[in-house]
Amino acid sequence: SEQAVAVAHPNIALIKYWGKRDEHLVLPFTDSLSMTLDVFPTTTSVRLDAAADADSVVMDGLPARGEPLRRVTAFLDLVRDRAGRRERAVVDTHNTVPVGAGLASSAGGFAALALAAAGAYGLSCDRRTLSRLARRGSGSAARSVFGGFVVWHAGAVDARDPDDASYAEPVTDARLDAAMVVVVLEAGPKSVSSREAMRRTVATSPLYKEWVTASRSDLVRMREALRAGDLSTVGSIAEHNAFGMHATMEAAAPPVRYLTEASAAVLAEVRGLREEGVRAWATMDAGPNVKVLCDIPDADRVADRMRAVTGSRVVVARSGPGAAALAEG
Ligand code: DP6
Repeated sequence: SEQAVAVAHPNIALIKYWGKRDEHLVLPFTDSLSMTLDVFPTTTSVRLDAAADADSVVMDGLPARGEPLRRVTAFLDLVRDRAGRRERAVVDTHNTVPVGAGLASSAGGFAALALAAAGAYGLSCDRRTLSRLARRGSGSAARSVFGGFVVWHAGAVDARDPDDASYAEPVTDARLDAAMVVVVLEAGPKSVSSREAMRRTVATSPLYKEWVTASRSDLVRMREALRAGDLSTVGSIAEHNAFGMHATMEAAAPPVRYLTEASAAVLAEVRGLREEGVRAWATMDAGPNVKVLCDIPDADRVADRMRAVTGSRVVVARSGPGAAALAEG
């Protein structure tokens, strides 16, 4: 201990997490389900510094300030609290995800930070506890603790210990191996954070309650389709769930819109591919990027088409591993 290094990957939700019932504990209104990717890892080292009187956080070589620093420090406070320790930490993180582009960079980031910080502060916790801890940093990070398909349980509203009831775990009976083609589109001028967008959606969108209800049956059908290895059903439920989430935020006041014209062009191309008989479905998060779920043998063809319509960077991802410790010193 005293120092630990961990790596984690982003995950893409097929059933989205959108909206918190408790902001402090990061408890969602709905269960969500994702696929962890094998691209864009975040590597984070945490080293205790007994002499320092503040945490120092470096992200891709630049000292973090403002909100990102505050979030990491608040997270470390939580770890210190649990470990019964007071030392400040030096955090060095390398993130290969295009930040703020809706690729859930916070998911891999907080999953890696949770594992590295737990290691450095000598907090021994099992994977489920680690997912609960990562959740406190960023909801979607609870899922990046695990590889493959992962479900994050919202936990019962009336649970005796709601923090304990909300954790992620692998979907062990999934029988699907699919590709996720990530189309990296330019984010527009600084858009609203997902945190604020969720808050606004829950508070003002007349569609939100309906989406929560629909999400429940989406999840049941999604798990069934994963069990059956039925890509067509998995893809169409995921696409429907994503469009529903975006509809709820566009109905918020003021509206939140992450999708751009470039996103729309990609979505049209995905429909075009389907008309040609290619099994491909889209999902979109808190940014303009579109991720296309398809069969592995079709992934390069899908990626080429996306490059042709957008001229953008396109990355073919597959199912990736959960958070892993790299070294301890
Ligand atoms: C659209 O996990 O980034 O990607 O808990 O506020 O940190 P906070 O939010 P975050 O939200 C992710 C939202 C999403 C959908 C998803 O990943 O399920």
